Amino acid sequence: MRILVSGAAGFIGSHFVRTLLSGGYPGHGEDRVTVVDKLTYAATRRNLPPDHPRLTFVQGDVCDVALMDRVFPGHDAVVHFAAESHVDRSVEGAAPFVRTNVLGTQTLLEAALRHGVGVFVHISTDEVYGSLAQGRWTEQEPLLPNSPYAASKAAADLVARSYWRTHGLDVRITRCANNYGPGQHPEKLIPLFVTRLLDGEPVPLYGDGGNVREWLHVDDHCHAVRLVLDEGKAGEVYNIGGGTHLTNKEMTQRLLDLCGRDWSLVQHVTDRKGHDLRYAVDDAKIRRELGYAPRHSLDEGLRETVAWYAANRDHWEARERVAGPGY
Ligand code: NAD
Ligand code: DAU
Repeated sequence: MRILVSGAAGFIGSHFVRTLLSGGYPGHGEDRVTVVDKLTYAATRRNLPPDHPRLTFVQGDVCDVALMDRVFPGHDAVVHFAAESHVDRSVEGAAPFVRTNVLGTQTLLEAALRHGVGVFVHISTDEVYGSLAQGRWTEQEPLLPNSPYAASKAAADLVARSYWRTHGLDVRITRCANNYGPGQHPEKLIPLFVTRLLDGEPVPLYGDGGNVREWLHVDDHCHAVRLVLDEGKAGEVYNIGGGTHLTNKEMTQRLLDLCGRDWSLVQHVTDRKGHDLRYAVDDAKIRRELGYAPRHSLDEGLRETVAWYAANRDHWEARERVAGPGY
């Protein structure tokens, strides 16, 4: 199989490609992979093998129609991870989010159609549902995104569905909970807090810290994406969750414990604008239909993640650790 993977110099896409190339996905041992990535601030080429016989790396923009026309022919499937992914940045300026997430997705869908690519796995997010006080979202929940990031992802999600409904393209959509794990950019909660705490620096907890997120190891997310690629159905949406729900305060406590620090380093700062209170997905469908189940416990996954950041300073020290409100 020849697979085109967009955005795979970032956190999740690179984990997917590294696992695939190292034989971690049954039936994909001979696959050839083309990565298309713009190498934005969020990416590093070091996330992928420098030289691998089954990997072709193309630095480029998913909005570039002419480039996609050169790259797409001969591929059997697309797994589309590329996106502007950080909510705080979308609050500061939404234009790159609309451009990359909406126009970039449409550009890839159109190229897939034009070049007869069989399967298109679109990586959406649970944030498209908005925020919920209790219960869990099923795939039938209406989309009510709140941040410009989430709105751009919801638009992309619906455009992707339209290429299935209108043109019959085999589009499969995933909506996953919050990921964590080695190699995440240190702008997101867990790597920002871990890298600062390792250095004995204060960490900015937004609002009262009562917002709830569902945490899933990146390896479990990628395992689910592989199942959707191999066994998913055209036009279907698959929630991916099964992680652990924690308030940001509870997560902070765990990170303080793992880094050997205490609450004196926690600063309560101005809340994120429009901050979603709680995310929780019902992922019964992917468990039932594709046999998905997460394999990493949060305890073990967080321990391993903190150890990775402690041992890999060269991966994150030079990267801009932008924080949101209050900084
Ligand atoms: P990331 O920010 O780490 O990586 C994004 C990658 O996309 C980077 O390599 C970047 O260079 C590339 N990119 C950005 N704009 C591009 C463009 N115009 N053309 C080509 N490449 C471009 O993001 P991530 O956390 O790995 O997220 C990957 C995908 O998963 C995104 O679509 C995101 O919405 C989705 N998602 C993320 C999470 C999470 O918790 N991180 C959860 C659910 C879904
Ligand atoms: O749910 C999936 C989404 O999860 C993905 O689609 C996004 O790409 C990904 O960034 C993530 O969005 P969040 O906004 O939930 O993640 P973030 O790590 O930015 O923040 C997690 C929580 O922690 C959120 O409630 C805000 C809070 N926070 C975050 C930062 C960066 C803080 O309190 N302080 C911080 O400095």
